[in-house]
Amino acid sequence: MAGGWCQNDILPKADSAEIGYFSISVNPMKTPSAADLSAPGIPAELCAVLLDAGHVVVFTGAGVSAESGIPTFRDALTGLWETFDAEMLATPGAFLRDPALVWGWYEWRRKLVMRARPNPAHLAIARLAALVPRLTVITQNVDDLHERASSAGVIHLHGSFFSPRCFACASPHAFAAGEPDEPDGGRRLEPPRCGRCGGLIRPGVVWFGEPLPDDAYQRAAQAVDDCDVMFSIGTSSVVYPAAALPFAAAEHGAKVVQVNPAATDLDDVASFNLRGAAATVMDRLVRTAWPAVG
Ligand code: OAD
Repeated sequence: MAGGWCQNDILPKADSAEIGYFSISVNPMKTPSAADLSAPGIPAELCAVLLDAGHVVVFTGAGVSAESGIPTFRDALTGLWETFDAEMLATPGAFLRDPALVWGWYEWRRKLVMRARPNPAHLAIARLAALVPRLTVITQNVDDLHERASSAGVIHLHGSFFSPRCFACASPHAFAAGEPDEPDGGRRLEPPRCGRCGGLIRPGVVWFGEPLPDDAYQRAAQAVDDCDVMFSIGTSSVVYPAAALPFAAAEHGAKVVQVNPAATDLDDVASFNLRGAAATVMDRLVRTAWPAVG
C-alpha cells in the first residue's frame, strides 16, 4: 500500500467546520445502547478464516479500552472540559492558546489510564498472538493497555501518553514516577518546562494537523499489505490516515472483521461485522475458534 497520507485529519463529510487550521467533519455517531453492547455469536465461517490465516492484523481504537473505564474520544467530555470536544483540545493551536487547559486534560487522562487495567479484549488480542502464525497489533490509542496485556511490538500510530517532549526543541521529558496527582474532575495545570531550552512540555501524542510518526505508519502499512485477515476493533473509522488501513486491507483481498456496537463507514467493506462490546466479542471469538485453549 502506498503511504501518501501525511496529515492526521478527518475527511470532510456532510457538514465541515473550520476550527483553527484543520478541518473536522460532523459525523453523526450512534452512542451504543445496552442492547448494542450484547455480543453476537461467532460465525463458523469466521473461525475457518482465522484457522487458515497466515498473518492477522489487529487494528484498535478507543472502543477497545472503553471497558477498562477509559472514555472514547467521541464521548461527551465532562467537568472542566464539558464545553469542548476532544478534537478541539487535541491540536497544537489549542495547546498554544491555553497550555494549562490542554496539559491538565492529558494529565487527568494519563491518571485514568494508569489506574485502569487491560480488559478481556486486550487479553484476547494478546492470546491470539500465540494462536496464529503471525499477529501485528496497530493501535490509535495513546494508552499502554495492549502492552500491559502482554502484546508485543504494538505499533502506536498516534503516539503515547508516556513520551512527553518539548514543544520547542523536541527533547524528551521524564515524568515523575507514579500516578499524576490529579483531582477526580481534573484541573487546569501548567505544563512543565524543558530542562534544555525552557520550552513548554507537550504530550507525546499526535494532534490533528500533525503528521503521523513516519516509521510507525510505514510499518503499519506494510503489515496491512501483507495480512490475510484484519480486525478493526472499537474505532469510529473517521480519523485519517489511520482509518484508511482496513479499507486498504479489504482492497487487496484480506478479510476485514469489524468489532463495534455501532455502525461505521467500514460496514460496507467488512466481511464480518460483529456488533458488540470488544471485551465480550474478542473473548468469545478466541474461545470459539480455539475451543481447546479457550
Ligand atoms: P472514537 O471515540 O472516535 O470511536 C470509538 C468507537 O468505539 C466508536 O465507534 C464506538 O461505537 C466504539 N465503541 C464504544 N464502546 C465500545 C466497546 N465497548 N467495544 C467496542 N467498540 C466500542 O475513537 P477512535 O476511533 O479511536 O486521535 O478515534 C480515532 C482518533 O480520533 C483517536 O486516536 C484520536 C481521536 O481524536 C487523536 O487524538 C490524534
